[in-house]
Order: sequence, then structure tokens, then C-alpha cells
Amino acid sequence: MKKAGIYIHIPFCAVKCMYCDFYSIADQNDQIPSFIEALIKEIKISKMLPEDRIFDTVFIGGGTPSLIEAKFLERIISALDKKFDLSNVNEFTIEANPGEAPKERLKDFLSLGINRLSIGVQSLHPHLLSFLTRIHDATQVFTTFENARSVGFQNISCDLIYSIPGQTWSMWEKDLRKIISLQPNHISAYTLTVEKGTSLFELVRNRKVQMPIDDETGKWFLDTHKILEESGYPGYEISNFGSLDMQCKHNLHYWRIDPYMAFGPSAHGFDGQRRWNNTRSLNNYFQKIKSNEKPISTTENLSDLDLVNEALGFGLRMKEGFNISLIPNQHLKIFDKKYKKIKKEYPKLIYDREKRIFLTIKGMLLSDQIIPELLFE
Ligand SMILES: C[S@@+](CC[C@H](N)C(=O)[O-])C[C@H]1O[C@@H](n2cnc3c(N)ncnc32)[C@H](O)[C@@H]1O
Ligand code: SF4
Repeated sequence: MKKAGIYIHIPFCAVKCMYCDFYSIADQNDQIPSFIEALIKEIKISKMLPEDRIFDTVFIGGGTPSLIEAKFLERIISALDKKFDLSNVNEFTIEANPGEAPKERLKDFLSLGINRLSIGVQSLHPHLLSFLTRIHDATQVFTTFENARSVGFQNISCDLIYSIPGQTWSMWEKDLRKIISLQPNHISAYTLTVEKGTSLFELVRNRKVQMPIDDETGKWFLDTHKILEESGYPGYEISNFGSLDMQCKHNLHYWRIDPYMAFGPSAHGFDGQRRWNNTRSLNNYFQKIKSNEKPISTTENLSDLDLVNEALGFGLRMKEGFNISLIPNQHLKIFDKKYKKIKKEYPKLIYDREKRIFLTIKGMLLSDQIIPELLFE
């Protein structure tokens, strides 16, 4: 039986952050009740994954799902429960923004069966938070964290962003160590990426903001991995850190090319062969659901080699590496040729052991150069 996940996308946010490329909309919270109705209907009319799938994770992401009142979440969960067998779900995550997740609500989330909280800390530094157009401060991070612990969350993850214009290594190291001192169960640390269509992209393009140079980001990346590893948070993916029992099982589904259902605007799902993307427009989402249509904008059927490419792309970004036996026999020779070439080019960055290929941490730093050279055309 193959394990599978369920993703729900909540698109509402108090403000739109200048670097964020995720589908999220500000100042439209009045639409939340109609959105919940539409979401429930989407769940009802959805096609099931084949029966040999066991759902073991649910992830409510966004956007800012902690803005949603528990009474609405209860209805979403009940709709999921009617449609799918949730009895094997052992990891149920919700994303929360500091200062936007009242204690009482956190308590209600827990009583609904949500057992993992992912807090969007990003930074503790006031200037960097304001550069990122975040509306919280460090005190709200600590309060939200303490509230979550005190109501009983035993699995808390903190999201951080580094390599931000204006950030020095000592600013980052101080924030990172402070977060480590809170002892979350898991940490995600992303380097700030400049995504097309964001305000940050325009600022960089118009030379109003200069991003840190690659060499500096590279050094920070390696030192960040070292600090986290030494502090009990081994990196199991390029930006994700935690001991074996605390790794995010839901994200592992994505990276291991497991199937997952997905609901809400911009959410994408995968049934083992076919990928589908929901529309990135709330209005279009409403219209489609109203006319009993699935809110899908694009679908893609993945060939066997597409699936291998995905497994390569995600696998090499993980500590567990890529399983060579996923390559169909008739393509092994061509892969071997590519791999030998890459090994010659980057002898200290890529290696194999027991039918798996791995990038070293330094190799992960160059993954955007190395992985494309291994992919099948
Ligand atoms: C899209 S947010 C949703 C959760 C929540 N609203 C928040 O902001 O934390 C999920 C995570 O993606 C990361 N993220 C989003 N855009 C990013 C970017 N351009 N560069 C690096 N990390 C980014 C942030 O760390 C964030 O916590
Ligand atoms: S980063 Fe989070 S809070 Fe900011 S706009 Fe994106 S989803 Fe919303």
C-alpha cells in the first residue's frame, strides 16, 4: 500500500509579503465563509485516489491558515473525513503566522486533531522583518511559540529565511541560535529567493535592492547546515532540518513522488501518474465550483522518464539520495554515462553507495547545476 497525503490551500493573508510567490490575497477576509463552502464542495466532488493508498498526512498551508476560525476548519476536516479514510493520519500540520494565531484558536486546532504547527518566523530582526514587509515582531514569535507549547503542541516547526539584503552573518547566526534555544521539533531554513512577479523581483530588476552574492550565500548555507547539525537538527533536505522522527512526513511525500490529493486555489495534486494544478484565481475557483466543475487549470501526464526525472530532482536534494533502481533497465546505460561524466566534473560533490546516488552538502549547494545534467531528455 502506498502512503499518500492531503494538502489544503488557504489563500488569505493580512498583507502580501514582497517576496512571496505563493497564491495569497490580502484584504479579502470577507470571502472566507464563501471560500469554506466552495472548498467543502470541491472535496465532495473530487475523484478519489486509487484504493491502494493510505492517507497518513494532512497539511493545511497557505496563505495564512491560522486566520481561519476553528469552526470553519472543523467543517473542512469533517468533509475530508466523510470522503477519505483519515484513520491512519498521524501527522496533521497547519501553518501559522506569529501574532495571527490566538492562543484559544491554537487550542481548538489541537482539539480538532491538528498535531503539528509550522510557524512562519522568517526573522527576529526588526529591520529585516520590515524589509520583508512582515507585520509581526520577535515578541509575537515567542508568544505564539509559547502559546502553542502551553496548549499542548508537541510538534512545532519554525520557518526561517536567510541571505536577506542587509543581513550580516552575525545577525543570522543570532536569530538561528535564538530559535534553536526554543527547541522546536523541526526547522526549515530557506535562502531568500527572488521570484518573478513579486515586488522583490521588481526591486532587484530596477537595482533598488541588491541580493547577496552567491559566494556569500554559499558559505552561509554550509555554516547554517553545520550549526543546525551540531544543535541536533540534521539536514535531511536542502532546507529542512530535524531528527528522523521529526522529519515532515507530508513534505517527504512530495519529495518521494508519492501521491497526494490537493484542494483550494493554486493547490496541485498527483495521483501517481498525473499531476493537476488548480486555478490561481479565487474568482475563477468560485465560478468553477459553482458550476459543479473541478477547479483545475492544467493537468500533465507524466511518462516513466518524467517520473524518474522528478525522483532525481527531489532525491538528490535529500540526504537519502536517489534510488538508481527507479531507472528502467533500458535507460541505465545512458544514465551511467551521464553519471560518470558528472562524477569526473564534481568528484567531491556526488557519490554512490548501495544503488543510491547522493550529493554532499557542498554538492547540494550546486544542485541547480548538477541535477539538470543528470536528467533524461
Ligand atoms: C508561503 S509561506 C506560507 C506560510 C505563512 N504564511 C508564512 O508566511 O510563514 C511558507 C514558507 O515559504 C517560505 N517562503 C515563501 N517565499 C519565499 C521566498 N521567496 N524565499 C524563501 N522562502 C520563501 C517562507 O519561509 C514561508 O514560511
Ligand atoms: S509569505 Fe506567508 S504571509 Fe506572506 S504573503 Fe506569502 S503566504 Fe502570506
